[in-house]
Amino acid sequence: MVLANASAGKKLLRVLSGETETIPPIWLMRQAGRYLPEYRELRAKAASFLDFCYTPAMAAEATLQPIRRFGFDAAILFSDILVVPDAFGQKVSFETGHGPRLEPIKDADDFGRLREEIDLGHLAPVFETIGRVKASLPAETALIGFCGAPWTVASYMIAGHGTPDQAPARVFAYRYPDLFQALIDRLVAGSIDYLTEQVKAGVEVVQIFDSWAGVLPTAEFDRWCRAPIRAIIAGLRARCGDVKVIAFPRGGATHLADFAAETGADVVGLDSAADLDWVCRTIKPTVILQGNLDPLALLAGGEALGKGIARITGTLKNRPYIFNLGHGILPETPIGHVEALLAQLRER
Ligand code: CP3
Repeated sequence: MVLANASAGKKLLRVLSGETETIPPIWLMRQAGRYLPEYRELRAKAASFLDFCYTPAMAAEATLQPIRRFGFDAAILFSDILVVPDAFGQKVSFETGHGPRLEPIKDADDFGRLREEIDLGHLAPVFETIGRVKASLPAETALIGFCGAPWTVASYMIAGHGTPDQAPARVFAYRYPDLFQALIDRLVAGSIDYLTEQVKAGVEVVQIFDSWAGVLPTAEFDRWCRAPIRAIIAGLRARCGDVKVIAFPRGGATHLADFAAETGADVVGLDSAADLDWVCRTIKPTVILQGNLDPLALLAGGEALGKGIARITGTLKNRPYIFNLGHGILPETPIGHVEALLAQLRER
């Protein structure tokens, strides 16, 4: 059979064009990662996590590993959201067991040391990775690119490390709103440049991760989460046409009612706390949804997992939906539980 277009053979792209699939497409956030023995083996060969991200042969291999093992409907580019501050000239490193470390931005002088524009040359290995992945991805598998949303990326740039509530960035934004706005604007421009290059290199969909949206009060959510995401999507589409976008404002449940219309996102990612009955009542049925399975239910497996899957597929069966977790898969997750998830989802 000759396919009418590239999307005809890809379940994920069919759902992105608004179709409802009896068996939803599935991929998992952080699907390439430490729960896979083949990932740990590959990772051990790299001098550092950033070297790993910037070595196309390795990053492409890590992207493909979960596809080979599980046959997910989409691959997500292997990289990290913090390559963006790195490409703005801020020092970034990852310390095993401690997570990311950045030279924190404390004031206008620190901000002044950032590059005015993102250095796309520095990110060339990421675009090369995309080309390599495209060359060996099965025809039915979609390729997702990504970036962090400005608020989440800025929160790491200001704190210099992970925190439980991103208090340093929140205080910074209250104290120096103009300076913080300048940082957000710079990240919006850099993210548009970065995603444009990802699309040119071959990604078919992009996801914008706003992992820390949930700590923001309403006015700040509008200004630092919703508005920058809207600006990125508009800027990307002005350059690349109708690119499909998944927005994931984690913890933003109460702000989700009109989030898709307000930002232009095609898909709204749901975290595990989002109540599906509320979601179905409140978010228009034409909005495509993704996510919601608790990563801890996947880690625990058994009845909790079975019930979690059944609740999601039962509640969302009449609307376009992409199966995923409510946040990234945890390193301790047994591979057998991912297999059980796929078996239950696909048995019909
Ligand atoms: O999803 C995928 O498989 C693609 C790759 C990917 C990674 N990070 C690889 C990674 C993606 C999409 C990300 C996104 C990311 N990175 C986010 C947003 C999503 C989320 O989880 O909230 C954030 C906040 C980061 C920043 C980051 N990177 C942190 C806080 C850490 C340390 C914590 C941890 O999980 O170790 C990382 C490191 C990181 N990024 C790892 C991986 C596989 C683990 C590092 C290693 O293997 O040594």
